[in-house]
Amino acid sequence: MFQSNSKIKSYALETYGCQMNVADSELVDGILKNIGLEKTEDLNNADAIFVNTCAIRDNAEKKIHSRLGNFYKLKQEKPHLIIGVLGCMAQNLKNDLLKNKPYVDIILGPDSYRNLPKLMNRHMVEKDSIVDTKLSRYEVYEDLFPKRNKEGINAWVSIMRGCDKFCSFCIVPFTRGRERSRSVESIVTEVKKAVDQGFVEITLLGQNVNSYKHENSSFAELLFAVSDINGVQRIRYTSPHPQDINVELLEVMASRKNICNYVHFPLQSGSNDILKRMNRTYTREHFHYMADKIREIMPDCGLSTDIIVGFPGETDRDFEETLDLMDKIKFNSAFTFKYSPRPYTKAEQFTDQIDEDIKKSRLDKLITLQREHTLELNTKKVGSIQNVLIEKESKKSSNHWAGRTDSNEWVIFEKKSSNIKDIVPVEIVNATGVILHGKEMVGA
Ligand code: SAH
Ligand code: SF4
Ligand code: F3S
Repeated sequence: MFQSNSKIKSYALETYGCQMNVADSELVDGILKNIGLEKTEDLNNADAIFVNTCAIRDNAEKKIHSRLGNFYKLKQEKPHLIIGVLGCMAQNLKNDLLKNKPYVDIILGPDSYRNLPKLMNRHMVEKDSIVDTKLSRYEVYEDLFPKRNKEGINAWVSIMRGCDKFCSFCIVPFTRGRERSRSVESIVTEVKKAVDQGFVEITLLGQNVNSYKHENSSFAELLFAVSDINGVQRIRYTSPHPQDINVELLEVMASRKNICNYVHFPLQSGSNDILKRMNRTYTREHFHYMADKIREIMPDCGLSTDIIVGFPGETDRDFEETLDLMDKIKFNSAFTFKYSPRPYTKAEQFTDQIDEDIKKSRLDKLITLQREHTLELNTKKVGSIQNVLIEKESKKSSNHWAGRTDSNEWVIFEKKSSNIKDIVPVEIVNATGVILHGKEMVGA
């Protein structure tokens, strides 16, 4: 067990990367709370600083290197300070960290969080860097419940881990290992706990969330089970792969009021040649067909996407095909990225890498086009009445609430008698870019 007489009484934890990391950090908070450590937001007060890292693109890693430099300075003033690198970069860069940043005391991959107390002890005895980056075929942290910090609205619930898809650009299968799913019972138990704590929205998480499969239960069946739990007002999930979005799943979504009318549908590229080289396993035609199907089965469904520009070998024509498909589908929003070569991946080996300035100019074009689409689709909502879950006070005015529609748009509206966590009907009166402005319908 952890030595409670050690100098280590408090810790700070910074989280980068995707929602899976946010959920994993809550698990780590739970583990550290169990051994009696106090969490602090103030790095100067911490006896241990952990950073939960992301390796998805080069700039994500750069940010962490710069944070580690800051932590090192603190350690020079406080030699007993433990510095720990957790998560995807730990998995990916352990040798580099050991060689070039010997002040990093603990390097822990995403499947090893249970070992953290033991390894902190070992470090205090051995005074050496400790590494545990073994990937597991089984670890889903089934019996460990996260410590959810805020008196929150949305609870992240991790339902599966890892990815077997091996898209040629992506490091995730290497940092997170093989796909594995949690049992329906343990997910349902966790959701019930979150509801008891006051959470009203549940977001199911996985690197490849809709590949979920536990014994005979599919993702669609899991959605049904979660949707049946009393008090779950909204259910979202992320991040799905287009290959695993099917009519059965869409029908389940359409049939349940508390499953949100929103699908994240990551295109990556609109060119069949590029999709093939990306190993994405669908064509532009199939993707387009499924996007139409989503909106047919769930009218007004919010549709967001991820797109990469400047993948190796992407010609002007390939890029035009991406713009053309965006024009045809019109996503409500898009996360857009410049391709970043990642170690171990197949695409990193391709010899026809694209110049940085071409990537940048393509990204600018894509962002401009997406802004037009977002504004156009949001403008169409003016005059409609949307159910908005009030999540917080507007940053700009204490007289206004900010909340999200079922289809995932942010709406700002003047406060009336309603409160945070209420779902209220709001008439949309204006659209400015990504934000909608509305008026709460009192007595509706
Ligand atoms: N499992 C999800 C994606 C998770 S990663 C899916 O399959 O869609 C989130 C997004 O990061 C990806 O959709 C992709 O658009 C982007 N991404 C991943 N690797 C990248 C890389 N090497 N360069 C640029 N963007 C990348
Ligand atoms: Fe990466 Fe592809 Fe897996 Fe998504 S499906 S995590 S992009 S390998
Ligand atoms: Fe990053 Fe790992 Fe998530 S690489 S995007 S933190 S799965």
